[in-house]
Amino acid sequence: MGIIIINFKAYREGFGKQAIELAKIADEVASRCDEYIAVAVNSLDLAEIVKEVSIDVFSQHVDAIDFGSHTGRINAEMIKDKGAKGSLINHSERRLKLADIEFIVSKMRELELVSVVCTNNVQTTAAAAALNPDYVAVEPPELIGTGIPVSKAEPEIVENSVKAAKNVNRKVKVLCGAGITNNKDYVSALDLGAEGVLLASGIVKAKDRKAALEELVGLR
Ligand code: G3P
Repeated sequence: MGIIIINFKAYREGFGKQAIELAKIADEVASRCDEYIAVAVNSLDLAEIVKEVSIDVFSQHVDAIDFGSHTGRINAEMIKDKGAKGSLINHSERRLKLADIEFIVSKMRELELVSVVCTNNVQTTAAAAALNPDYVAVEPPELIGTGIPVSKAEPEIVENSVKAAKNVNRKVKVLCGAGITNNKDYVSALDLGAEGVLLASGIVKAKDRKAALEELVGLR
């Protein structure tokens, strides 16, 4: 069984009604396959999506803050209260300082939330693994949203990230992402040693999202 986390990003197709529709598709496809499928949704949709599906729902970001005098921020306690399973941290479209990543990972561990720290290369993957998150997810930024799969274009990044991360922390799970669209890309990622993938546009922006997800998990 592999791990698939679908990041809805701030795509129009991943917001509001369409986000709920896609989360339900993911829920239904998950019930028919052996893969673990979760969704990472925007903070406004999170509470509603949690109520609509039985798969795990992640936040796309949390801020490195406790409760207090902060404006326009969301902390780990808030996403937990709304039913999130965990959160992406340090996505390349929402980079954080090292000290903030460490703060969030530790706090999420205390709160029993699942942390997925995104990285951009082998070195940062090893550094992130040392912070002891549940997952690291390596995504070369230049391939994000291109449809050119990291597992094909830069297989050595995936393989070496897995080795480097496990060398530092044998418990951490390693995902890869960027350009992953179909079953071939997904299977190659697993063959390279990744435990799964983090992906977005290939599913969120597909014409037929159900068909795209079914194909990804090998149901078509
Ligand atoms: O978080 C996943 C993401 O950054 C990869 O995006 O569109 O290349 O699957 P995409």
